[in-house]
Amino acid sequence: MCGIIGITRGPGTAGRGTDAQPGEGGGVDQVLGVLLEGLARLEYRGYDSAGLALVGPPDGDGMWRARAANGIRSLDDLTKRAESAPRGATAGIGHTRWATHGRPSEENAHPHADCSGRMALVHNGIIENHIELADELIAEGHLLESETDSEVLAHLIESRLAADPGTGLTGAVRAALGRVRGAFALAVVHSDQPDLIVAARRVSPLLMGLADDATFLASDIPAILGHTRDFFVLEDDEIAELRPGSIRVTAPDGTEVDPAPLHVDWDLDAARKDGYPDFMSKEIHEQPRAVADTLLDRLLPDGTLVLDEVRITNEEFRAINKVFIVACGSSYHAGLMAKYAIEHWARLPVEIDIASEFRYRNPVLDEHTLVIGVSQSGETVDTFQAIREAGKLGAKVLVISNVLDSSMAREADAVLYTRAGPEIGVAATKTHLAQITALEILALYLAQARETLSPADARAMLGAMGVLPDKVATALERASDVEAVAEAYRDSPSFIFLGRQVGYPVALEGALKLKELSYLRAEGFPAGELKHGPIALVEEGTVVIGVATRTPVWEKMMGNVAEVKSRGATVVLVANDGDEETARHADAVLWVPETEYLFAPIVDVVPLQLFAYSLARLHGHDVDRPRNLAKTVTVE
Ligand code: F6R
Repeated sequence: MCGIIGITRGPGTAGRGTDAQPGEGGGVDQVLGVLLEGLARLEYRGYDSAGLALVGPPDGDGMWRARAANGIRSLDDLTKRAESAPRGATAGIGHTRWATHGRPSEENAHPHADCSGRMALVHNGIIENHIELADELIAEGHLLESETDSEVLAHLIESRLAADPGTGLTGAVRAALGRVRGAFALAVVHSDQPDLIVAARRVSPLLMGLADDATFLASDIPAILGHTRDFFVLEDDEIAELRPGSIRVTAPDGTEVDPAPLHVDWDLDAARKDGYPDFMSKEIHEQPRAVADTLLDRLLPDGTLVLDEVRITNEEFRAINKVFIVACGSSYHAGLMAKYAIEHWARLPVEIDIASEFRYRNPVLDEHTLVIGVSQSGETVDTFQAIREAGKLGAKVLVISNVLDSSMAREADAVLYTRAGPEIGVAATKTHLAQITALEILALYLAQARETLSPADARAMLGAMGVLPDKVATALERASDVEAVAEAYRDSPSFIFLGRQVGYPVALEGALKLKELSYLRAEGFPAGELKHGPIALVEEGTVVIGVATRTPVWEKMMGNVAEVKSRGATVVLVANDGDEETARHADAVLWVPETEYLFAPIVDVVPLQLFAYSLARLHGHDVDRPRNLAKTVTVE
C-alpha cells in the first residue's frame, strides 16, 4: 500500500493555492508544493521511502528526480533535496512507499526511470509476473537498477515506445499493461510531453481531480482535497491522460469513456478516514483487500510457495517434523487458527505458545522444527526474543509480519509478509485476517512439500481461498445488523464467548476485541470445557456469544449452546446464512456466509470485530486508541 500523487498545470499557469515552497524568487512553485504537501498526507500509506519527478522546468534538463529512503524521515530528506529542484515544472509525480518487493532503499524508491532517464513512473500494487518480464527486458538490453517489481513497468513502457514510436506515451502504457499480471495504480511522465501524465489502474486505488488550471491525481482524496473538490474515479483497466484542466479516459480497447464524477464536501479529517468515523472501521472495511493482496501470487501452479525472504531450502522444509508457533494477542489467535489447518493438511504436530511464556521454559526444538513467529509489527519484543531463542536452539525460523524489514523479519530464516498495509487503529483487525490467510497458505505449502495433499486438492483449496475476500465483504455488509445486536446488549456487564475446534480461537479473538475496546469483562472458552468450571458463571441473562457455523463439530457446539441456554443465558450465535436450525436456538444471530471449515475463522471473526467495535462506540470509547494499550509492544 503505497501513496501516489501527481499534478500537471502547464507552463502558462501561475502557481497558487499551496503552502509556500522554495520557488521562483521566493514565490510559490505549485507543482513542487502540491507534490510535497500531498506526500505528507499520504505518508500514512507507508514511509519506507519518498520520491518525486518533475518534467518541463524551463531551466531544467528534461526530467528532475529525487528520492530518499530514511524511514519516518524520508519525506524530510526529500523536502531538503527539493530545495535544489529546478523551478517552474509543468508536471510532476510523487510516491511514498510501503515496501513489498525489495527492501527500503534509495534504489528501490519511486519514481523509477527508464534507461533514457526521460521517463519516470510511480506505482502502487504488485506486478505478479515481474520476474519473467524483467528477464525479457534484460535480454533486450535494458538496465534494471532496483529489486522492485515496479521498475520493470518503466522499462516495459520504454520498450513498447521504442518498438512503435507513433503510439505515443499512452499507447505504450496500454501495450505494456497488456503484458502485466497483478494489481497496479500508476502514473507516468515523459520529458518529451511535459504537460501530460498518463495514469492507469487495476485493483489499486487512483482518483483524479480537476481544477480550472491544473489536473491532479492521487491514491486518495485527502492528498489533493486542498486543491479541488471535483474528483473522477478511474475504473479497472482504464487509462487516463491528464493535461492542465482536462482529463481524457479510454477503455482497454481505446474507446473514450466518461469517468464517473464525484463531488466531495467532507472536511480533511473525515477524508483521511475515507468517510469512516475512525481508522478502525476503515481498516475493518479494508479486510477484503488485505486478504486478497496477501493471497496474490503466493502459491505457484507447480505448488511452490513464494516466500519473500527465504533462507530455508525446500529440502529443509521437507525435513521438518514439528511446527512450533509463537505469538502474542491477536497474532497468537491467528496461530491457533492455523494449527488446525497445518495438522489437518500437512500432518505435522503443531505446538503453540504465547511468546512471553515460550522463552521461560525449556522447549524441545531441533533443526527439524519449524518455529513460526507471528507478529504484524515484527517488533513485539516477546515474540522477537522467542524466535531468537528458537534460532539459537537450532530450529528453522519463519516469520509472518506485516512490516517489511522489521526486526523479526531480519532475524528469521524466512519471511512471509502479509500485505494489509499500515494499520493505524491499535486493535488488530485487517492485519489479523491477513495473518490467518498467510498461515493457511503456509499450511498448504507444507502439505504439498510433504505430499500429504495432492496438487489437485491443494488447487481446490486455493480456489476456495480465492473467494474469501468476497465472503469477508459479504460479512461486512451486515455491519448495521451487528450494530443492532450490540445495541440490544449494550448494558450487559460481561460476555462469555464460546467456540469449538476452529471456532475456539475465533471466540478468544472476539473476547479480546471486546475487552480491549469496550473495557467490559469478556472471556473466551472452548465450549466443551465449560462444564468443567466456567459454566458456574452462567446465570439468568448472562450474554453468551457462540461461534456456531457449520464446521464438523457443529452438533457438539449446539449441545453446549443448549447447556447454557437451559441455565438462563441469552444466546447470540454466529451462524451461516440461511441456517434457520441454528437460528432457532439463538436470541440473536450474526450471519456470515458459509466457507470451507478450515478457512471459516477468516469470515467468522468479522461480525465479532464489528460487535466489539459497535459496543465500544455505544459506550463512547475511542476505538482507535483504547486506554492502556500501545500498537507495538517493545517491552517485556
Ligand atoms: C489486539 C492486538 C494485540 C496484538 C499483540 C501482538 O487487538 O492488537 O493483541 O495482536 O500485541 O502484536 P504483534 O502482532 O505486532 O506482534
